[in-house]
Amino acid sequence: MTTALYPGSFDPVTLGHLDILDRSASIFDRVVIAVLENPSKEPVFSAAERVQMIRDSLGERKGIEVGTFNGLTTDYARQVGAGVIVKGLRAVSDFESEFQQALMNRRLFPEVTTVFIPTSLRYLFLSSSLIKELSAFGGDISEFVPAPVARRLGDRFGQRRKTP
Ligand code: PNS
Repeated sequence: MTTALYPGSFDPVTLGHLDILDRSASIFDRVVIAVLENPSKEPVFSAAERVQMIRDSLGERKGIEVGTFNGLTTDYARQVGAGVIVKGLRAVSDFESEFQQALMNRRLFPEVTTVFIPTSLRYLFLSSSLIKELSAFGGDISEFVPAPVARRLGDRFGQRRKTP
């Protein structure tokens, strides 16, 4: 039984993330998606909001666990009994820092293996930052994020635009 941990900021979760999640679920017995509570980049959504958006976006998917953590990913991997850390790769530019993190994570927790999953071509250019920027300027993000996230972004940035 292999547990895979899929960690990230998920600020907010996108269809690109769900693609990686589905691919992980087709390979591993148990998948835990884990939201880093306080990422170095100031998040737009609180950890509780990010978790809720993930839960609301899971739809019919069964057996995916959603958690939150602070500190090291490897500490959380130990805590949930994960033998694998899943990371999505979009482009070669993602690779360098992901590779560094994977090697550091192996140093910190030798029993854990990082598995890189390439994203689908259709989500190659997607990122949470781009989605927030697009939404903040009134762009249509509905084809890039699950419907519950689109609604939440609309609430957040719609209200912000009304504030003088
Ligand atoms: O979605 P992101 O922002 O690309 O996710 C990055 C994340 C959360 C996976 C990464 O920053 C992380 O693992 N942070 C926790 C601290 C840690 O364990 N760093 C790597 C080894 S020093």
